[in-house]
Parts: sequence; C-alpha cells; structure tokens
Amino acid sequence: MADFMLKSDIEEITQRLAVPAQKLAGKTVLLTGGRGFLGRYFMEIFARLNETVLDQPVKVVALDNLITAGKEGAEIPELENVSFVNHDVIQPFEWDGPLDYVIHAAGIASPYYYRAYPLETLEVAITGTRRMLELADAHGARFTFFSSSEIYGDPDPKHVPMAESYRGNVSCQGPRACYDESKRVGETLCHIFHTMNGTKTNTIRPFNVFGPGMQETDYRVLPNFASRIKAGQPLNVYGTGDQTRTFCYITDAMVGFLLVILKGVPGEAYNIGNPTPEISMVELVERIGKVSSRAVEHNIVEYPDSYPADEPNRRAPDIRKAKLQLEFKPEVGLDAGLKRFLDWSETVYTGEQ
Ligand SMILES: NC(=O)c1ccc[n+]([C@@H]2O[C@H](COP(=O)([O-])OP(=O)(O)OC[C@H]3O[C@@H](n4cnc5c(N)ncnc54)[C@H](O)[C@@H]3O)[C@@H](O)[C@H]2O)c1
Repeated sequence: MADFMLKSDIEEITQRLAVPAQKLAGKTVLLTGGRGFLGRYFMEIFARLNETVLDQPVKVVALDNLITAGKEGAEIPELENVSFVNHDVIQPFEWDGPLDYVIHAAGIASPYYYRAYPLETLEVAITGTRRMLELADAHGARFTFFSSSEIYGDPDPKHVPMAESYRGNVSCQGPRACYDESKRVGETLCHIFHTMNGTKTNTIRPFNVFGPGMQETDYRVLPNFASRIKAGQPLNVYGTGDQTRTFCYITDAMVGFLLVILKGVPGEAYNIGNPTPEISMVELVERIGKVSSRAVEHNIVEYPDSYPADEPNRRAPDIRKAKLQLEFKPEVGLDAGLKRFLDWSETVYTGEQ
C-alpha cells in the first residue's frame, strides 16, 4: 500500500466509517473497476475494516479488465478476503454465491482515455451497468452505480452549484458525449430496475476526486500537473484557464461513497464532492504554487488532439442532499489535500508522463 496510497488516509477513512460500516459484517460485495483509482481504495478500506472494525469479515470480489488500470492496477498486492477476477463487465458474470452489494465503479473516467476508447466508454456504462444490475437483481443485492458530475454537462450558471434535480445541458454529439451520455443512460437503467423490479439502486455523481494513488499516466488535471512539476516543466493549462472546478480529497470522497452505498435511499442519486472552493484552472495553479516545495510556472495552451475540448465552463456540487440524508461532511480543505497529494507524488511519480 505504501506506494499507492497513504496509510494515514486509510486509517482516517476507516475510523470515520466505523459505525455505518457495521452493516458490512459477514456480507459479500462485488466491486467492478477494482483496480482503478477508486477501486483500489475500496479494496484497501474493506481489508482494513476487516482488521479493525468488523466481527465477521466482509468478502470482496473485484472485477476489472485492466483496460486503463495501468501499472498501478497490475501491481496491487492480494489482500485477505479480497479476490480479483480479470473480467470485462460488458460480458455476463456468473456468480452462484451470496451477494449483498454490487458497486459498479468500472468506467473509463479520464478524458484522455475516453477520447482514445469511445465505444468501450459507452459500453461499460450502458451494457456493463445492465449486466451488473441483472446480477444485483437476481441476488437481491443493493446496487450502486458510479455516474459522474459530467451528466450535468455545461450548466446554466443559475444552476451552479448543481443540485441533483438539475437536468443538465449535454451534447449528444460532442467529443465528450460517449462519457456523458452513457453515464446518463446508466442512471436511466438504475431508474428502470428500481421502478420495475424494486432493485435497491443508488447513483453517485462524484465531482473531481483526487489524491495519492492516481496514476501518473491518468492525464486528469492534478496527476498531469504533478508529473510536470516533478519533471521541472511548466504546467499546461488548456483553453482559457477560466473554466472552474471543485476538488474533493480522496478521504472525504470515499467516506461519502460508502455512506451512499450503506445508507442511500433506494432509487436516489447523490452528488459527492467538496463544494468549496470553486476555482479556475489558473487559480488552481496558483494554489499549487503556494503548497508545492518547488517553483511552479504555467502556460495557457490550446487543447491537444489527445484531449477532448468542449469542456464545461463550471462545475460545483450542491451537497445538501447527502448532508441531510447521509450526514456527509467534507473535512479536508483544498490546500491540505493538495499538500498530501503533491508530497506523495514527489515520492512516487517519475516525471516521465
Ligand atoms: N475519480 C473521479 O473523480 C470520478 C469522477 C466522476 C466519476 N467517476 C467514476 O467513478 C468510477 C471510478 O473512477 P476511477 O477514478 O477509479 O477511474 P479509473 O479509470 O481509475 O478506474 C476505472 C477502472 O475500470 C476498469 N474498466 C474499464 N472498463 C471496464 C470493463 N469493461 N470491464 C471491467 N473493468 C473495466 C479500468 O481498467 C479501471 O481500472 C468510474 O466509473 C468513473 O467514471 C470518477
């Protein structure tokens, strides 16, 4: 674990979840995308809950076809009560044992990769979600779908921060459509299974989660910046640099995700993120400059061909629903989270993105 995440972060998460996690004792969880950024956290958290909090272990079966898992996903150590199956979730998965929770986190999440794999991106969120819903339905398991804040598209400013009730503004033909539209259909599938079959579904809409464990070759904004800092190169800010985002540190995000999985009201979608600060990419670079031990410079550049343009101008979550229904409350401020991430990336990244 040392290389891929901070032990102190795993401790923080398991302590914050000690009470709600009791529901997992003796249960079986099927986790898709188990070797991705979030999936590897789930595996470590379940293993640590077994060691510290649960009387009877939670058993985890993790699926991943490793399409974007990178060397980080390939090298993960085996953990007690956690098993791994190399499986493409667009194919049916046979499972005869007990099954209490299905967490569908497989996806092609980085814009760089969904530009390279548009059909695979679409299939994992549509066919993959349907296959996993069928499995959950057959076993009476709770089902959680990892959707995205991208389902809101480029929002009307009067809907920022976005509440779950906002219907979004998404292009069905733009360079990001394979991701945004397929996540929307994935949510529709959850709605159909919930209303037609009574399957206990929840949808999570994460807003830019970051932290140790992000692959250097993931090409999302923070690993991209951290890799260039390590290489002593100026940061490349795409477009105008005025586009805004919020960033949620991994410990807060994982606590929020597990609160949805364990306590979410069936049929409901939840935003999980940190609503403040909403900052532009140029402001993000300035923040990084203050936190980093190195000098940080930047250039404003055109979108490269490898990265889908047509980025949403603003993105910020309204998290009142998760706060009220699940008692979700982010605790790690942006500067503190950036510091933990940048210090970690200094020890792990090579600067050879
Ligand atoms: N991390 C975030 O900030 C964020 C934000 C919004 C949404 N999400 C969603 O959360 C989920 C997890 O995100 P992440 O950051 O861990 O992404 P990630 O790319 O690090 O991991 C996803 C994993 O899914 C696997 N995968 C892809 N297609 C598959 C298939 N057909 N069968 C089996 N495995 C497959 C990949 O190999 C990878 O290991 C994704 O669905 C993503 O779209 C994440």
